[in-house]
Amino acid sequence: MNVIITGAKGRLGSKLVERLTAAGHTVTATDLPELDLINFWAVRAFIHDHKPEWILHPAAWTDVDGCALEPEKAALINGHATGNIAAAAAEVGAGVAYVSSNEVFDGRAQKPYNEFDAANPINPYGYSKWVGEQSLIYTNPRHMIIRTAWLFAHGGKNFIQSILNAAQAGKPLRVVTNEVANPTYNDDLAEAIIRLVTIGRSGTYHLINEGFCSRFAFARYVLDRAGFVDTPIAQISASEWQRPSVPPEFAPMNNNAAAMLDVRLPRWQYAVDRFLSKEGLMAR
Ligand SMILES: NC(=O)c1ccc[n+]([C@@H]2O[C@H](COP(=O)([O-])OP(=O)(O)OC[C@H]3O[C@@H](n4cnc5c(N)ncnc54)[C@H](OP(=O)(O)O)[C@@H]3O)[C@@H](O)[C@H]2O)c1
Repeated sequence: MNVIITGAKGRLGSKLVERLTAAGHTVTATDLPELDLINFWAVRAFIHDHKPEWILHPAAWTDVDGCALEPEKAALINGHATGNIAAAAAEVGAGVAYVSSNEVFDGRAQKPYNEFDAANPINPYGYSKWVGEQSLIYTNPRHMIIRTAWLFAHGGKNFIQSILNAAQAGKPLRVVTNEVANPTYNDDLAEAIIRLVTIGRSGTYHLINEGFCSRFAFARYVLDRAGFVDTPIAQISASEWQRPSVPPEFAPMNNNAAAMLDVRLPRWQYAVDRFLSKEGLMAR
């Protein structure tokens, strides 16, 4: 398969490049500063030059608080730039797999969100990802909307490492109880995206590790597995954790559509265990 991968230096993008290259696919990796996706003419020329079968598009401005402070910039990068890719891809007959977020939902549900539950973003990051979804759906019939949540990846910043760093430094830990979603392991997600794209069926998918929990329960599980069972965590509510972006409270998702194609991710606790083992952080 001939594929372009955007955001190729990012957490998910770099893993997709690694896995697809290892599997013998023809991979063209792109990121800033070489190609800015908000430049339609440059994007169009790039896609026409490479004529891919699929474009895997995880590139995004992922700083949710930055997006809250500059919402127009967020909508441009995460939203309208996805429209640039979708339109140019349609001209060469390429499909686009766009990585979106559980933050397109408002978090006021009583049960996990299904693929076709109504989106109603409550913050500028969620809105920008929703604009990206819409730009793609209306512009290119060969599309996959792949929503995920709470990614943790090897290298770089992630929630697991932040919690463990604080525990190791003996800093007091305060973690929110009323924010709920699906912790998702970057390596599992990359594998599942590749399987979906190989199948090639257009649609909207929720790719998350199975099960869900609060931020507090996520932190507690990580500390216990890494041997910090006696480290206390103060339980706080989201209103006590002031930040520019307001996350949806209850936004876990169900995987129905991908599961129908036998694409499922394992339970989140098993994913965390594998992550910790690979990092050499699992308690003996
Ligand atoms: N991380 C999560 O918890 C999470 C949760 C749900 C959904 N998602 C979605 O999953 C996807 C992958 O997330 P990630 O954590 O792997 O992201 P990431 O590590 O932040 O990588 C995103 C990449 O996109 C690049 N990029 C930003 N603006 C660009 C532009 N205008 N043109 C070209 N490239 C640009 C970034 O470059 P710079 O670094 O130079 O800006 C970066 O290399 C994103 O679409 C995100 O919205 C993430």
